[in-house]
Amino acid sequence: LFTFPSISKSNDLFCEAGIEATSSSKILIKGGTVVNAYHLEVADVYIEDGIIVAVKPNIEVDDDVEVLDATGKYVMPGGIDPHTHLGLKAFGTEAVDDFVSGQAAALAGGTTMHIDFVKPINGSLTAGLEAYEKKAKKSCMDYGFHMVITKWDEVISEEMEIVVKEKGINSFKFFMAYKEYQMINDEILLEGFKRCKSLGALAMVHAENGDAVFEGQKRMIELGITGPEGHALSRPPLLEGEATSRAIRLAKFVNTPLYVVHVMSIDAMEEIAEARKSGQRVIGEPIVSGLVLDDSGLWSSDFVTAAKYVISPPLRASGHNKALQAALATGFLQLVGTDHCAFNSTQKALGIDDFRKIPNGVNGIEERMHLVWDTMVESGQISVTDYVRLTSTECARIFNIYPRKGAILVGSDADIIILNPNSSFEITAKSHHSRSDTNVYEGWRGKGKVEVTIAGGRVVWENDELKVVPGSGKYIEMPPFSYLFDGIDKEDEKYLSSLQAPVNRFKLST
Ligand code: URP
Ligand code: ZN
Ligand code: ZN
Ligand code: ZN
Repeated sequence: LFTFPSISKSNDLFCEAGIEATSSSKILIKGGTVVNAYHLEVADVYIEDGIIVAVKPNIEVDDDVEVLDATGKYVMPGGIDPHTHLGLKAFGTEAVDDFVSGQAAALAGGTTMHIDFVKPINGSLTAGLEAYEKKAKKSCMDYGFHMVITKWDEVISEEMEIVVKEKGINSFKFFMAYKEYQMINDEILLEGFKRCKSLGALAMVHAENGDAVFEGQKRMIELGITGPEGHALSRPPLLEGEATSRAIRLAKFVNTPLYVVHVMSIDAMEEIAEARKSGQRVIGEPIVSGLVLDDSGLWSSDFVTAAKYVISPPLRASGHNKALQAALATGFLQLVGTDHCAFNSTQKALGIDDFRKIPNGVNGIEERMHLVWDTMVESGQISVTDYVRLTSTECARIFNIYPRKGAILVGSDADIIILNPNSSFEITAKSHHSRSDTNVYEGWRGKGKVEVTIAGGRVVWENDELKVVPGSGKYIEMPPFSYLFDGIDKEDEKYLSSLQAPVNRFKLST
């Protein structure tokens, strides 16, 4: 059975803020519309010790059970954010949201699990993982890890096997950009894809042509364009489309599934759509900033305002966002992440004279669930069941933890939100839970509010108040060979038998 560690009264953010944790481990959610990815019904949900024990109408319970009335509201799986960078060390600084403040923000916004990218130390995966295990110790919600590959040799290849078979990691990210830090070339990409395939791990790419970006940056500086707009001008959609196309074709050559992170442009999206139409196993992940914002903020005359929008790949001209929304609604893109990587205005000012030095990244972990609801469901582009699929279920399936996560089913983890479609939300840095002093969605008002978040069977967000327990979050091991690998062996056999004719072409039959 799942037991809750006691609350530490010393030096944690939330005790200091005077926030108490609730003790009930039995909860009944009454009368709501329970939504799963392909089905919804009015039912009660009964939770005991962190697990969903019953989902059916009219559940009767004893007095020791905490009852939450969800009449007229949606009861949905907590959000899973497939893409975060809590406490990332980059650009000579460290992202302000760590596993404490970033997770607090997540829970306040209805996200109950996130998958963060482990950055290797001097290329070493196991050293990097150890550092991230430390960072994540105080977690107040469940989390998993992807692993970044920054160089290639036999040791790294061996380490990949260790992290997959012993450490619960089933995905590896390859950076095709950031030439001066971690860019890998096509040879490493191919080696990495082959290794991923043999381990049943998902290959992920940051798809921008890093050599061309480097050239584009020089071009802007030579032209005297040093402000944040130079960031976007130096790495146009063209370069994202090229790298996406290249990664897709190399993944096809190896015949392994591919996950393209932070799809920001029509150019990249169309490459993914084409590949999927031809039957290739490609997943496209737009992020909430790319879905709802455009590049106009980068042209602000105020540096602090302009710099907060710097992220890679960059926000694009208006039109790309609408196209990404349409692709999400029609199934060409599969799930929504955030790429949450928050730097405050002092950190962004590292690039006051040179956009290349502005730490890359925007917030979103707290805002994703609300913005996807407002932009996609409220607008009529997707159904409520689609919403659950795009914000939770599909992520759980891709990373092979469904139906433990991503579903309201008997036996699933009790990670649940109650969303009131008639209530409204407003986003502002004054009230958000991120440690950043800015918010790229500042002033956004919309409909549909997450009123309750339950994580690991506890009410952690209610009445606009957080009640989290640092240390209660669990590391979620993600096994290899997700559904994306089903049938690959048959495809490979077919390919190999097609080679038999050419192999024997000039041999005399005896
Ligand atoms: O600008 C970004 N996206 N920062 C985080 C690192 C990455 O490339 O995902
Ligand atoms: Zn506390
Ligand atoms: Zn990236
Ligand atoms: Zn990222």
